[in-house]
Amino acid sequence: MSDIKPVHVLNGPNLNLLGTREPAVYGRATLADIEALCRETAGRLGAVIVFEQTNHEGVLIDWIQRAGREAGAIVINPAAYTHTSIALLDALKGVDVPAVEVHLSQPAAREPFRAASYAAPAAAGSIAGFGAMGYALAVEAAVRLARARMAEREKGS
Ligand code: DQA
Repeated sequence: MSDIKPVHVLNGPNLNLLGTREPAVYGRATLADIEALCRETAGRLGAVIVFEQTNHEGVLIDWIQRAGREAGAIVINPAAYTHTSIALLDALKGVDVPAVEVHLSQPAAREPFRAASYAAPAAAGSIAGFGAMGYALAVEAAVRLARARMAEREKGS
């Protein structure tokens, strides 16, 4: 049972390769393992998730817009689009749903081009460097943000 709308967990390019992709950087967990961790975390908190991955920027934008209509909160790992996509920033700013940015690695500690994030200015907060565990932390933060938003709305009405 869930009092809030689902948390949409959105994943960008190359994250479908997790498990075999640069394991020294991203760990050995597959995206399916991470999905299971997110479902378990949400379930423990009485919430549900929608979990998606795409290699296409426009699809990620479509999913952010859909989350604006259908989600209580967003967890997003935009992967490389983090560092390149103004469309990502505009989409996150364009929806009235709290977003949590998550990265497996710590981009700020890597190549200089990874230091900038187009998601960060539109996110409630960012979690990076904790590997797969970061997704569990991000889902928990997202559920709390969605509940807080809902309580605010109920107080206002
Ligand atoms: C990533 C970090 C990005 O810099 C990179 O392009 C990715 C994965 C992470 O989860 O650590 O694809 O978002």
